[in-house]
Amino acid sequence: MCGIIGVTCNPSANAPTRASIIITKALKSLEYRGYDSVGIALIDPSSGKLIVKKSDGMLDKVSKEYGFEGTPGFVGIGHTRWATHGPPTQINAHPHTDCKEEIAIVHNGIVKNFLELKKDLASKGHSFKSETDTEIVAHLLEELSNRNNDFFNALKRAISMVEGSYAIAVITKKEPDKIFFARKESPLIVGLSKNLNLLASDIPAMLDYTSSFIPLSDGEVGWISPSDVHIENLNGEIIDTKKRIVTVDWKSDMVRKSGYPHFMIKEIHEQPQVLKNTYDGLMSDDILDRAADVLASGERIFVTAAGTSYHASLILKLFIERLTGRIVYPFIASEYRVVENLAHKGDVIIAVSQSGETIDTMKGLRAFKARGAIAMSITNVMGSTIGRESDFTIPMRAGPEIGVAATKTFLTQTLVASLLSIKLASKLGKIGMDEEKTMLSELADAGRVAGEAISMTEGVVKSMAERIHAVQNMYFLGRGLGVPLSYEAALKLKEISYIHAEAYPAGESKHGPIALVEQGFPVFFIVTSEMVSELEGNIAEMNARGAMTVAIAPFKLKERLGTKAIIAVPDAGNMLEPYSLTPPFQLLAYYTAVRRGHDPDRPRNLAKTVTVE
Ligand code: G6P
Repeated sequence: MCGIIGVTCNPSANAPTRASIIITKALKSLEYRGYDSVGIALIDPSSGKLIVKKSDGMLDKVSKEYGFEGTPGFVGIGHTRWATHGPPTQINAHPHTDCKEEIAIVHNGIVKNFLELKKDLASKGHSFKSETDTEIVAHLLEELSNRNNDFFNALKRAISMVEGSYAIAVITKKEPDKIFFARKESPLIVGLSKNLNLLASDIPAMLDYTSSFIPLSDGEVGWISPSDVHIENLNGEIIDTKKRIVTVDWKSDMVRKSGYPHFMIKEIHEQPQVLKNTYDGLMSDDILDRAADVLASGERIFVTAAGTSYHASLILKLFIERLTGRIVYPFIASEYRVVENLAHKGDVIIAVSQSGETIDTMKGLRAFKARGAIAMSITNVMGSTIGRESDFTIPMRAGPEIGVAATKTFLTQTLVASLLSIKLASKLGKIGMDEEKTMLSELADAGRVAGEAISMTEGVVKSMAERIHAVQNMYFLGRGLGVPLSYEAALKLKEISYIHAEAYPAGESKHGPIALVEQGFPVFFIVTSEMVSELEGNIAEMNARGAMTVAIAPFKLKERLGTKAIIAVPDAGNMLEPYSLTPPFQLLAYYTAVRRGHDPDRPRNLAKTVTVE
């Protein structure tokens, strides 16, 4: 989704091209969000005029062609665009300007009533260059600030007229040291540094300059200058910014590839370490006990998420149900309107979200909260909206994840899910203290198991990628825990290699999917140590139809399954099986994508964080 960066520097302490260098560098780190066009706007310190440079295409090319980095100015904004209104063209790229070219704006979100506003502004003589909803806001600001010389007031009025979702950053010749901003439903964060302040869609874009941030809340509007931050809420109350500062322990080298060719493979290899961090962090705190208390006293447990996080939610459901006998109701976040009326006081809703900014997950959480449910979340990003709006947040501690296809955050979410289920089982008296202790200490090995799985399988998986890289369709089948893992395996392969992969509970494959199976059709089985004989039956059915059957399975089952190929993983107890079985299918997706010539970090049409409905 669109990425925003804004920088305002103190002229006496910074070189005139520093802002454009910071903006260009930050745009580079926003690339992972997914985009098709890029642009910057700065206020030229000698002429006082706006300089706008933008085009469709990738940053490296556009920046070189237009000379982004040499652009003078102490205040500027930049944007990576993920097209919604109007195709990716030079004209539709952000920043957008007003008629007089005195105001420049970048925007993430959708202005729902833009046609209505456009009609009105056209009748007042405004003319438009692009097909975007964003440009309308530049003209609205021009119209309102013409009537009233106070630009901030004009912004507040404009915001009250705009319907939809937005994170916007605006610069104006009239107040050349400030960047004005407003936020509703799309993420926007202020970064505080010495002699300069920043504004961006996410924390990683600012890590080179600061570790102190103010994540903005919905309805907030304000401005930053090199030395000040002003924030007001919807009711016009001025926010005490000092109380809102959060400090993160992420370092800028965490968002670099550190010798790996892609972020995705770096993040797959980070799993042993981050799982240890997650485990140690949660075990040295009473947070899981408190979370388990909330769940134990809650009436029903709902869980919502999107994409990979939804698959981790299914694992949460499975473990809670197995260990406690309590039913968990998962739902896909974007479908929250179908189930929201079921929620009532006493229920607990758990939102699982790496970014903490996925709009559907946020809306699902809000809808349940509004009906009296207790809001709990499992998130990776400190200070994220979902985290802030929850009554209770469990941090995943995976560190920044840049690869669009989630990897390390899936396994850390799974680890949180497992630990939380054990704690809940203990609270509900379903397991004794000794059993709780044994199970918890077993999970201390999650990182080790993931590490062994990576070293044991990476070579085999590379050759497997060579074998399957030209196929067009394939299946992943499993039973029990193997079902959500199969869903995740199929998603990974689709996302970055663009091979059509579907996942089913293995038994269900006979009810339709098997009709597609013919000689050489790849069918991967994700085999846990449960329901093995039933899976053997399913493998035999696929073999009988000529399928190319492959098992990702514990070593101990190697001789037994009867698949044509096997990717053997370390033997591990059932609760540890996600950590042994997941890395091979992540690696398979990665190496297949690379073999097919795709960039796994920048899958087409996808965004790391989906901030529009
Ligand atoms: C996008 C990303 C996925 C991610 C999903 C949910 O689709 O490409 O990798 O799983 O959003 O994101 P969240 O941040 O809520 O976990």
